Amino acid sequence: MKAIEVKKDIYWVGGIDWSLRNFHGYLTQRGSTYNAYLIIDEKITLIDTVKGYLTKELIERISSIIDPSKIDYVVSNHVEMDHSGAMPEIMAMLPNATVITSAAGEKEHKLHYNTENWKFQVVKSGDSVNIGKRNISFVMTPMVHWPDNMVTYCPEEKILFSNDAFGQHIATSERFDDEYSLEIILEEAKKYYANIVLPYSNQVLGVLEVAKGLDIEMICPSHGIIWRKNVSSILEGYNKWASNQTDKKAVIVYDSMWGSTEKMANYIANAFEDKGYKYELFDLKSNHISDIITEVVEAEYICVGSPTLNKGILPTVASFLTYLQGLAPKGRKAILFGSYGWAQQNMKVMERYMQESDIEVVKTFNNNFIPTQEKLCSITKEVMEII
Ligand code: FEO
Repeated sequence: MKAIEVKKDIYWVGGIDWSLRNFHGYLTQRGSTYNAYLIIDEKITLIDTVKGYLTKELIERISSIIDPSKIDYVVSNHVEMDHSGAMPEIMAMLPNATVITSAAGEKEHKLHYNTENWKFQVVKSGDSVNIGKRNISFVMTPMVHWPDNMVTYCPEEKILFSNDAFGQHIATSERFDDEYSLEIILEEAKKYYANIVLPYSNQVLGVLEVAKGLDIEMICPSHGIIWRKNVSSILEGYNKWASNQTDKKAVIVYDSMWGSTEKMANYIANAFEDKGYKYELFDLKSNHISDIITEVVEAEYICVGSPTLNKGILPTVASFLTYLQGLAPKGRKAILFGSYGWAQQNMKVMERYMQESDIEVVKTFNNNFIPTQEKLCSITKEVMEII
């Protein structure tokens, strides 16, 4: 396993997680990478590490360039274990190295690992460290996506080491955005944003403001592909997603017990189709919540349907609504629908979720047992009247 040159004397030395399919509940069909970068200068600098089980791969890639014990600085942009899991083993190999991190980063490292023998240098926004021909400066980006997060910028190389921001879960032997399908990279970047970054959109807007003031030729994130040809595309994507700009689009999500809620979903879809909206129908029996959330990022309407089951709703729908509540997209409009036999508990439960998610419910449809054709057509008509 070799290091891959990113720019002269700057190397990607990360790990590829080919088999990863679940990242704390987020379905990662394409696997992932944990990107670490090695800068060879008067002070040899490692930026971030990898998940614990890929430490050997990190060490092999570093060793293809230098003896790891020669590393002077380890920049830890983020303590989450997909980037710091290798730290205990790496730091044991580097008796003279200093860990450069945020104040929250130092605290979190101490809450994760035995750091007794580690030297820390705590940095804040605007601080800079000279490593020889180059400088590395730091911008604190708390909550993108933990309190400790920061990004590292090298002005001489015009590279932003952005950690989680601008990343994608893609396992690939290609490292750059001009070597891989841009459509897939952007789709995975959107999925990453939806499932990891969405609740912190306000903080992302702050990061984008900082980025505007930097001359950036390359973005080296901590997951997936490096941006060198399409830097403006990913910045535009983040700007759209973080500022909650939606398309004329509806996401219709449901599960059905005996088919009535499914029929209602289809007749709601008819209304969006007739009004010229893009729409997607997601049956929760066959779609994963992390894929659905990816489409919610650009949707103006979220339509959610469940029948009453016992004293609540179908567990698949509850799971989706719990996930939606945690990710908290702003400014969306909801339509709720479903069928019931003798208790209208479904609507109460779904309305409560929406209220707690701060999503406005603009219409509800609850049908007793099987909807007639007349009723279904009236649902289409009523939805068309409000969108
Ligand atoms: Fe890729 Fe927040 O860790």
